[in-house]
Amino acid sequence: MEAAGQANGAGEPAPKKPNRKAVELADFKARCRQGTTVVLDLEWEEDMTEREVRSLCQQLLFCYGVNRGARRPVRMVLSGLGMGTSTSQRLRKISGFESWPIEVLEGPYIDRFKREELVYLTADAEETIQTFDPEKVYIIGGIVDHNRLKGCTLAKAADQGIASAQLPLSQHIDLGASRRVLTVNHVLQIVVEYQLTGDWRQTFEKCVPGRKHRGTNHGMGISFRRSARMSRVGAGAHWCAPRAWDGGPRTGRGRG
Ligand SMILES: C[S@@+](CC[C@H](N)C(=O)[O-])C[C@H]1O[C@@H](n2cnc3c(N)ncnc32)[C@H](O)[C@@H]1O
Repeated sequence: MEAAGQANGAGEPAPKKPNRKAVELADFKARCRQGTTVVLDLEWEEDMTEREVRSLCQQLLFCYGVNRGARRPVRMVLSGLGMGTSTSQRLRKISGFESWPIEVLEGPYIDRFKREELVYLTADAEETIQTFDPEKVYIIGGIVDHNRLKGCTLAKAADQGIASAQLPLSQHIDLGASRRVLTVNHVLQIVVEYQLTGDWRQTFEKCVPGRKHRGTNHGMGISFRRSARMSRVGAGAHWCAPRAWDGGPRTGRGRG
């Protein structure tokens, strides 16, 4: 057998075999390009404590791991990762981060994508998503707030004139006493899993942590326990104060 790069019988050097890692990476990138585009919006740092930012970075690492290992990965974009931010400094300390096969934007997603293709995923939206449209770009708020910043992503989407939608959790599982606000990594995992199975119930049963659901929703109403607990959850929360996001119209496509 002839080793890669050695001369063949005709005296010409045999073409180098592409190395296994490079082939795997090219295959992964190709699969990402076929997937849903998911932006992790990292413009929320000033609303979080340093501890919450640290926790967010761990969730982002988990998101990356889930996506990297997925059969059908999403096209992952980190937006608003300004160089001077704590999130950026923490992520750049992770070994290999610079070569993660994702798109990293220092600026906001609103400068990168067309407004009409953007959909902010938020538990506070009136609309409920039924499937992921390959033409759309789905945004997950890079927020760890322990339910403190109620409605901030909905307000941002409204301010920017972009669509918003919640996941169809209550249509497919009984959330019991839990709230329907999930962590960043669980939402990313839901997008990845749904993209593979096309089955919401299966997806939620796999990705929504146990404490968040009690089984399949067969049309049960909200229980007394749930309403009592939900009002307690609301205790330390407040609706977000309006903030000056870029709300001007934008028409350019901007996607590469
Ligand atoms: C911990 S939550 C942040 C909650 C925050 N108070 C807010 O206003 O979005 C992290 C992100 O996950 C996404 N998310 C969580 N639960 C969701 C749901 N039920 N439907 C859609 N998106 C959800 C949202 O993008 C949200 O910003």
